[in-house]
Amino acid sequence: MKKDRTILVTGGAGFIGSNFVLQCVAAGDAVVNVDLLTYAGNAGNLAELDGNPRHVFVQADICNENAMALVLREHRPRAVVHFAAESHVDRSIASPDAFIRTNVHGTFTLLEQARRYWTGLSEGERAEFRFLHVSTDEVYGSLRPDDPSFTEETAYAPNSPYAASKAGSDHLVRAYFHTYGLPTLTTNCSNNYGPFQFPEKLIPLVILNALEGKVLPVYGDGGNVRDWLYVEDHCTAIRTVLERGRLGETYNIGGNSERANLEVVRTICHLVDEMRPDAAIGDRSRLIQFVADRPGHDRRYAIDASKIARELSWQPSMRFEDCFRQTVGWYLEQSRCVEDVRSGAYRDWIRQNYEERTAR
Ligand code: NAD
Ligand code: DAU
Repeated sequence: MKKDRTILVTGGAGFIGSNFVLQCVAAGDAVVNVDLLTYAGNAGNLAELDGNPRHVFVQADICNENAMALVLREHRPRAVVHFAAESHVDRSIASPDAFIRTNVHGTFTLLEQARRYWTGLSEGERAEFRFLHVSTDEVYGSLRPDDPSFTEETAYAPNSPYAASKAGSDHLVRAYFHTYGLPTLTTNCSNNYGPFQFPEKLIPLVILNALEGKVLPVYGDGGNVRDWLYVEDHCTAIRTVLERGRLGETYNIGGNSERANLEVVRTICHLVDEMRPDAAIGDRSRLIQFVADRPGHDRRYAIDASKIARELSWQPSMRFEDCFRQTVGWYLEQSRCVEDVRSGAYRDWIRQNYEERTAR
């Protein structure tokens, strides 16, 4: 492995992390991928890298300081790109503990071990080293319909245990820059969609349920708005910030594609009807069921991504309509492989989350 180009990625077997690892390796980077393989991690996402010397997988917990020290010492990365997290808001409401452990304590452990490693580097290596923390727009809380989009100056106002744990991790990253001079970068991104997302999240869940003629659960009135970004665009944005971002800065990343949940779900229904018509199921939009809302459900997210556009010339390159159609097609093609990740534990979660939400 070319040590000078090695990037240490955490959470690289998850949804965004695996897309990022594939993009980096294709671009010629060497990647050490540290992932605990929780329920959300799937080594199969990286099957095409089997035997590729530019990808090394290490199964480890970011909360384990010895394991993090060892991986840094052995692989001597030029950068850490930190995706590993508990990421599902509904799970954070049901069981917040794991979110505090991984997102807050895990980020702290990784920062501390990265700081020690960085301190021991030569002057030139220290100047080149980067710690990029991947975060979310959820730290900014909720917008009203006419509010301006979130900027990097928007005050933090997290509303779920997930968002609060990510906010805590963002603050730790900031503190490591200001206190110790660790060369950090933080990105706050809106909702991603694309291949390899775990099917507990809205888009894959609805595609797979629609295919099978199951209920399509819409929380509340379906009027909550998210700003959707294709995952490959998110990955190019992260790589851009990694190479050219100003140290200690945060960059918002978004897709300029605000959509209400009900519109997203209806679009999926039309696309699945078109791609997999099924006379026994009929019109899939009839499967939509309004169910009890998520407690503290943020009404609207929208990202102002003008800073990254202005400073680093990044903007989303993919059209929502094209990528969305492609994504629906991908899940329909992969539905048998996706079945493998819908284990007994996954079915238990679906029962727990949806049986409590009596249909309205
Ligand atoms: P994901 O849940 O699909 O993947 C998380 C990965 O982290 C999994 O592979 C899991 O095994 C691993 N992991 C969890 N705990 C770990 C631990 N203690 N040690 C090592 N590995 C561990 O998440 P995602 O949707 O790909 O999100 C990745 C990152 O991007 C997260 O930090 C999330 O907050 C952020 N983010 C996500 C979105 C989105 O729309 N999905 C948007 C903005 C930001
Ligand atoms: O904004 C970035 C965030 O996007 C990331 O930080 C999170 O890790 C990621 O999970 C995502 O959070 P959301 O809560 O927005 O994603 P989710 O797919 O869970 O839900 C999207 C919207 O759809 C949200 O308003 C809740 C709603 N929803 C979700 C599910 C699972 C439903 O209406 N029905 C459902 O069954």
